[in-house]
Amino acid sequence: MTNYLMNTWYQAGFADEIAVGDKLARTICEIPLLFYRRSDGCLTALVDRCPHRFAPLSAGKVDGDTIFCGYHGLGFGADGKCNHNPHGPIVSALAVRSFPVAERHTIIWVWLGDPEKADAALIPDLSYIDETPPQARTCGYMPTAANYQLLSDNILDLSHADYLHPDTLGGINTTAKSNSRLEGDTVVVDWLAENCDPPQAFRATIHGANRADIWTQVVWQAPALMTLGVAAVPAKQPRKWEDEGYTLHNMVPETRALLPWQRAS
Ligand code: FES
Ligand SMILES: [Fe+2]
Repeated sequence: MTNYLMNTWYQAGFADEIAVGDKLARTICEIPLLFYRRSDGCLTALVDRCPHRFAPLSAGKVDGDTIFCGYHGLGFGADGKCNHNPHGPIVSALAVRSFPVAERHTIIWVWLGDPEKADAALIPDLSYIDETPPQARTCGYMPTAANYQLLSDNILDLSHADYLHPDTLGGINTTAKSNSRLEGDTVVVDWLAENCDPPQAFRATIHGANRADIWTQVVWQAPALMTLGVAAVPAKQPRKWEDEGYTLHNMVPETRALLPWQRAS
């Protein structure tokens, strides 16, 4: 197994993906996981592998607060312990690991490390999501066949936009004034392009002005959670909060990526 940061909250999905009685399979840090929502509305996270013959529990059925394995019918509760064995006694070996799970900012979070250290207060503050009306939010997945840390490299250095996205976002990033700093465990990078020729993607938001002040910010938290803030205003006009837009890029390692040079070796 690659070295992953384990004592942290990883995004497992979006809260509205699992209704009561529904289940969801995910692999995070190479661990197969099953999530299901119990009758009280709370979520359970278990290793997605039955301890009997290792069938994925996610192929089974949720009934009340129990997941029933689809292979030979064993049932497991939210604590991961077997609570139903149609073939004989329930023994302690019939158990799967359960993980702390939480829901905040419309996101499902799971803690894969030491359960004693799982503290919901450590979930990153993404309250800008809650403050945004639902109709103004959009979300989705972008499966990426690469090491997840490369995405931090990509977003923390926006100078690439001048070369990779010249017709949409590029033209201002290499010359913008930038400031990088550490705030606690968080890395913050700001860019300010003043009185610039606005890139195409910003023209609609500055209402026809031909010069703009464009502020961009990346906030990075380990291992790979990033918020990208952007605001474009006509040059020399003050930036107001309603000019700002925020995008969460939350990179979650699924499995070990095979990079081209690893394939070749
Ligand atoms: S593999 Fe799950 S009950 Fe047999
Ligand atoms: Fe880019």
